[in-house]
Amino acid sequence: MENKDIVLGDISFPPRKVWIKTYGCQMNYHDSERIYGQLSKLNFTKTEEQDDADLLIFNTCSVRDLANQKFYSHLGETKKLKKENKEKKIAVCGCMAQTEGKEMIKKYKQLDFAFGTDVIDSVGEFVYRSYSGEDKFSVNTWDKTSDYSIETQITHGTPQAFVNIIKGCDKFCSYCIVPFTRGREKSRKIKEIVDDVRKLVDYQGIQEITLLGQNVNSFGKENSENLAQLISALDDISGLELIRYTTSHPYDVSDELIAIHGSAKKLSNHLHLPVQSGSNTVLQRMLRQYTVEHYLGLLEKLRKSNPNIVISSDIIAGFPNETEAEHRETLELLEKAQFDFIYSYAFSVRRGTKAARMDDILTKDIRGRRLREIQAHQVSIQEKLRKQMEGKVFRVLVEGSNAMKGVTKWKGRTNCWRIVHFESPENLMWHWLDVKVVEATAFSCQGEIIADYGKNPPSLYQ
Ligand code: SAM
Ligand code: SF4
Ligand code: F3S
Repeated sequence: MENKDIVLGDISFPPRKVWIKTYGCQMNYHDSERIYGQLSKLNFTKTEEQDDADLLIFNTCSVRDLANQKFYSHLGETKKLKKENKEKKIAVCGCMAQTEGKEMIKKYKQLDFAFGTDVIDSVGEFVYRSYSGEDKFSVNTWDKTSDYSIETQITHGTPQAFVNIIKGCDKFCSYCIVPFTRGREKSRKIKEIVDDVRKLVDYQGIQEITLLGQNVNSFGKENSENLAQLISALDDISGLELIRYTTSHPYDVSDELIAIHGSAKKLSNHLHLPVQSGSNTVLQRMLRQYTVEHYLGLLEKLRKSNPNIVISSDIIAGFPNETEAEHRETLELLEKAQFDFIYSYAFSVRRGTKAARMDDILTKDIRGRRLREIQAHQVSIQEKLRKQMEGKVFRVLVEGSNAMKGVTKWKGRTNCWRIVHFESPENLMWHWLDVKVVEATAFSCQGEIIADYGKNPPSLYQ
């Protein structure tokens, strides 16, 4: 195909390459996808090579200090790139850019522009402004309109898609920066999402969707709609095989949603339900709005509604003022909850949050030691749960492969979010398979193929 310039106004856009580095959660990965989609209209194509790119974009995360540090170290490396080639543009977007974009632009000479989370879809305008000669600017305005309406953009050509259904977060947990970086909650309407997903299935070959939001359970409040209604509408889309959603807040898990986990044909048998702590006093200081008893009650109801459901969670170790007794309550909760896996983090001080102003921030050593104890305890639980998979057959969607010493190992994900590895010389990428688990440990499952349905199985749910 001939590579032609695209002319917009006074500017000509020759074919160029964009490189995006994404940090943080699925929301940011989804935003990067939107950026690729918008920039293709300005003649940009993706590149995986930093050196090869005309435009570098860092899509940042500020949820913990480590994420910030990673970005700053990568940004430092670009100083040299900019020196070698002044034509290279470097931009920063995402959660850090929302709150710190203006300072970053002033401080780092190599940065050309910054833009926040609520103006992602205007990235084309910012790139246009930059190529028109506008020097060093930052945009972090909030979208003040009351509705939230978008169309999902896909640039990856795989059968899986993230679908944003709600943005922002109104919960203001005392430790969390997200409400400051993503603003207030706003939901799309069910009708728009269903039409969007139907198009993804019919025209882009999407088979599995993950509904996204920082708190998907409070979806639809302002429109008198809810997540259970959305899932049940999506469940009827023919050609769609699997529906996932993330992330959930326990406060907003309704009985209607629990019932849907038992009745929807296509809803995944996995729920990520972050608990954060096993101590009621810590949960209170975290401003989480539920008790351990309420949380365990939810797990009981969910497991009754869907006996195959697998639950995972997030835990924060060493919250300010956390006593040894409170920490042990978290270890006890792990025992009671029987999570399939957890993401666990040492508490990280986030400037501007309530927890950052609490008096007794524990030492790094204490936070680290408690984190290791939580992780070790979880591994022993996980080991037992995974062992129970041995001998059972799971349907998986193949997501990747690894070649070692001439043997190709494929990686498939079960409906309940577990990864199973198996060998095959065939190209199985994006095939649906039945796989029998032959060996399972806390961290990995080995299996053998029982059936191969190819890429387009006749509906698995009829
Ligand atoms: N919305 C989800 C919820 O309410 O559970 C969580 C979203 S947050 C981006 C992902 C996880 O990061 C949280 O569940 C929490 O465990 C962790 N996290 C957030 N702020 C943190 C902090 N200051 N220090 C350590 N971990 C933190
Ligand atoms: Fe952060 Fe809490 Fe909102 Fe989750 S619900 S994004 S932890 S403020
Ligand atoms: Fe990070 Fe922002 Fe997500 S702070 S976790 S990228 S919402």
